[in-house]
Amino acid sequence: MNKYDLNEKVAIVTGARRGIGKGIALKLAENGAKVVVTDISKEDCEKVVDEIKEKNGEALALKLDVTNEDEIKEVVDKTVEKYGKIDILVNNAGIYIAKELDNMETSEIDKELNINLKGPILCTKNVLPKMKEKNYGKIITIASIAGFVGFAQSSIYCATKGALVNMTRELALDLGKNKINVNGIAPGVIDTPMTKDMLEDENIKNNLMANIPYGRIGKPEDIANAVAFLASDEAEYITGQILAVDGGWLTH
Ligand SMILES: NC(=O)c1ccc[n+]([C@@H]2O[C@H](COP(=O)([O-])OP(=O)(O)OC[C@H]3O[C@@H](n4cnc5c(N)ncnc54)[C@H](O)[C@@H]3O)[C@@H](O)[C@H]2O)c1
Repeated sequence: MNKYDLNEKVAIVTGARRGIGKGIALKLAENGAKVVVTDISKEDCEKVVDEIKEKNGEALALKLDVTNEDEIKEVVDKTVEKYGKIDILVNNAGIYIAKELDNMETSEIDKELNINLKGPILCTKNVLPKMKEKNYGKIITIASIAGFVGFAQSSIYCATKGALVNMTRELALDLGKNKINVNGIAPGVIDTPMTKDMLEDENIKNNLMANIPYGRIGKPEDIANAVAFLASDEAEYITGQILAVDGGWLTH
């Protein structure tokens, strides 16, 4: 169902081969956007593109490791070459390493910082000139409720998500004059490959459920619906905000 008018809009989604990113890519395409589906495996992105095309949508698969600035520049160039512009960037790629800080290798810390924080920074930096040229843009970053509250064994994850939350506010401040909206989503617990092992453990699942007033685990589509709204011109006067899509987790 086409809920928001994203016709003629061009979107890049990172980490879109599966999970929340895939849900976002499908939803933006369903609402009329041309979607550049990116992730570390181009082959997996092509499967998402096939799904979009089966539903008469338009999409392109490109390989993108968000820690590699050369690849980011290539994605920006190829997107503009094929579709002429970039209207929407969804910074979705992320990883979660569940360990207490003193049990983490420094290489693991670097990896989580680079993918979760430096990745969105570099993607945003490289897309901005194209948005500024058109005096139009929507940047939507997938943060987390872990950007607002602490989670056990998640110090670096929480650090990266908290940084994304406040960077979103700052970028909105800089980019209002360019009519570029910068917002974020803070998902609660969403059923994806990232959370599969946790959710298969009944004890962990019950503990998580105890914190969700709405009484169910989230789905990628819950996040995708919020992204489609923030990407639309119905959300034109909203910027610098983080929308929690968490079944009420952050209420207590
Ligand atoms: N699932 C949840 O409960 C939950 C909750 C809050 C926030 N989030 C956030 O939502 C986003 C998506 O998570 P998900 O649950 O779909 O996880 P997921 O593991 O299913 O998907 C993450 C995607 O990111 C990709 N990725 C990993 N490293 C990358 C890199 N270097 N470059 C490009 N892509 C890379 C993976 O290949 C994968 O497709 C993440 O930022 C995550 O932190 C998830």
